[in-house]
Amino acid sequence: MLDPQLSSQATIGPYTLLRKLGQGGMGVVWLGYDQALDRHVAIKELRQSGAKNSTLLRRLVREAQAAAKLNHPNTVTIYQIIQERQSPCVVMEYVDGGSLAEHLQDHGAMGWRAATQAIRDAAAGLRAAHEGGIVHRDIKPANLLRTKRGLVKLADFGLARWAELDVELTHPGAFLGSPAYVSPEQAAGRKADARSDIYSLMCTYYALLTRTPPFVDEDAAVILERHEREVFPDPRAVAGAEGLPDGVCRILLKGSQKRPGDRYGSAGELLAELDAVLATPDQSHTFAGPWGRNKERQGPRDSVPEFHAEQPDLHVTGQRLARARKSQDKGVELEAWRELYGHYSQAGQTEAAADAYRRAVALYVQVHAPSFK
Ligand SMILES: Nc1ncnc2c1ncn2[C@@H]1O[C@H](COP(=O)(O)OP(=O)(O)O)[C@@H](O)[C@H]1O
Ligand SMILES: [Mg+2]
Repeated sequence: MLDPQLSSQATIGPYTLLRKLGQGGMGVVWLGYDQALDRHVAIKELRQSGAKNSTLLRRLVREAQAAAKLNHPNTVTIYQIIQERQSPCVVMEYVDGGSLAEHLQDHGAMGWRAATQAIRDAAAGLRAAHEGGIVHRDIKPANLLRTKRGLVKLADFGLARWAELDVELTHPGAFLGSPAYVSPEQAAGRKADARSDIYSLMCTYYALLTRTPPFVDEDAAVILERHEREVFPDPRAVAGAEGLPDGVCRILLKGSQKRPGDRYGSAGELLAELDAVLATPDQSHTFAGPWGRNKERQGPRDSVPEFHAEQPDLHVTGQRLARARKSQDKGVELEAWRELYGHYSQAGQTEAAADAYRRAVALYVQVHAPSFK
């Protein structure tokens, strides 16, 4: 279907533009159609800042040439670079199932198997790239694209370098990658290497499992500092992720070590661990690590607790909660869990209070922060 904003003649090079697929820090991405080959393509039109861009363009082309050699099922193939309307455009494989950032926004967290499968695909793509000497530098859910059949492909190899080189082009800090997914060494202004990609992939894994990246704050500087100093919080404290297998927890911790040398030595090593977790039929759930024992090993309590007439306040809140859940009014449900948290804390029912708190946090994220890209 043609986008009404586009004239039917809109083209870039030989490609007819069909609609806008999205917009990122570096420019617009179009869905294009290649008549000669009868296939769709994605075209990223890179905004650029100023006059002296011929060097930049040469470097972009060099990066793209390296990326174009990858030719791996888990990386998005680059077809061509063309200069059009004064902007360099990267023409690449169109991936038809949307990004995992969109998936998180529309459907929330994934089950651990689906998340692990997606991250193993990404790790396979990274291994190929790293073996070819290419560091991605901007691994995040928005750069993990999925085909309709569920295969995950990494997009935008080498493009983070473009943003780094042309800092005026991107908003301040954008050359760092996305704060929520950036490695401690990048946060500290040091050089990124293959192990930085592994760290960012762990932040992405965390987001797929819990819906939000490990460190969230309105202030990007605070997020960067937390990457440098803090261990990932226990993902099992998030409602819905209580039942994560020990193997998943171990991978998250190992891959997100502060010192690059303490992480996996390579994406291949990480890939083997992810495959091992997927292949293990009986998962154990006793991992303590730096987080202590998981208090919710029994799995999530999904039913609405019962409240009796002897507890009139709770009874009213409970009814409101049940109605909110039925009508899927997340705002009202959030308020109800907050009240319950208050009731339980005052009554000294710590387990129930913790459960209500976790549910309130999960809902808060859904209601107030629908997109953590
Ligand atoms: N090759 C592609 N195939 C399909 N959709 C794409 C492709 N590349 C990018 N997109 C879409 O365009 C959006 C914007 O991409 P981009 O400019 O790379 O910014 P970001 O990665 O920060 O979202 C992506 O989130 C994705 O939905
Ligand atoms: Mg992208």
